[in-house]
Order: sequence, then structure tokens, then C-alpha cells
Amino acid sequence: VRTLSLLLILCALGLVACGNSADADHSSIPDPESVGDPQTGRQVFSEWHGEAPACSTCHTIDGTASVGPSLKGIAARAGKQVENLDAVEYLHESIVDPDAYVANGQSESVMYRHFEDALTEEQIDDLIAYLLTLK
Ligand code: HEC
Repeated sequence: VRTLSLLLILCALGLVACGNSADADHSSIPDPESVGDPQTGRQVFSEWHGEAPACSTCHTIDGTASVGPSLKGIAARAGKQVENLDAVEYLHESIVDPDAYVANGQSESVMYRHFEDALTEEQIDDLIAYLLTLK
């Protein structure tokens, strides 16, 4: 019975995910709270995690360029960067696989590549929620 309900849950999740990406209006900014906790995300953004540098070592949120692009306004840009990726998908990919799409005018291979190992899935969701508040 357990296995069966697990399968059903996974199916449902799969279907929900498919439905979302098919109908998503990529230009609207999703509600941060629906993704994670922006307050926690804000902390995750400015803390080191083992060897993984804090996001804030390379990114400002006030428009000034640093090692990486400023993340000011990233919430509004995120859904428009890559065709077929909505804002949440784009931000997730930017964190776990930074070289998949290299933001305009930026050099590849600079952003730390192992956040997926350094952060929990929950921390990543909280980060995405925080980034969605940067309008
Ligand atoms: C070692 C420096 C460095 C660190 C640390 C870093 N980044 Fe980056 N980041 C970059 C650079 C350089 C780019 C631009 C090239 C690219 O898109 O990969 C970038 C790009 C991005 C983008 C895409 C920006 C856009 O305008 O589309 C996002 C979002 C992002 N980073 C989020 C994060 C988050 C969240 C963290 C912390 C978990 C983080 N970065 C940590 C250097 C860094």
C-alpha cells in the first residue's frame, strides 16, 4: 500500500510540474512564499556553507556590478532569460548549474559550481524565494 501511494504522489507531482510549465505565464513573477521562505533565503544568500562561498561575495542586490551581475530586478528578468524556463526554473538552474545559461555579457565558469552539493534543496528553494523578492 505504501509503495502504491508513494507512486501516486510522485505521479501527481509529475503531472503538476508538467501542467505548470505548459501553462506558465513566463512574464509574471511567482509568489515567493509559494516557493520557500524569503527571510531564510536572505540569510542563506549572505552566509558561507562549508567551502561554498556566500552568494553575496559575488552578487550585490543594489545594481552595482561585482564579480557576478547585480541581482537587482532578477525577479522580473528571471522568467525572460531562457525560452521555456519560467522564473523559478531559471533561478534554480542558475544556482545548481550556472554554466547551463550564462547571463548576458558574463564570462562562463566563474560562478561557484557546487551549490547543489553545498546547499539543501530547502535552502535552494528559500534562496529562490528570496531572489523572487528582488524586483
Ligand atoms: C564566485 C562568484 C559567484 C558566487 C559565489 C555566486 N555567483 Fe551567481 N553568478 C556569478 C557570475 C560570474 C554570474 C554570471 C555568469 C553566469 O550566468 O553563470 C552569475 C550568475 C548568476 C545568476 C544569473 C543572473 C542573471 O542576471 O540572469 C543568478 C540568479 C545567480 N548567479 C545567483 C547566485 C546565487 C543565488 C548564489 C549563491 C548560492 C550565487 N549566484 C553565487 C558569480 C557567482
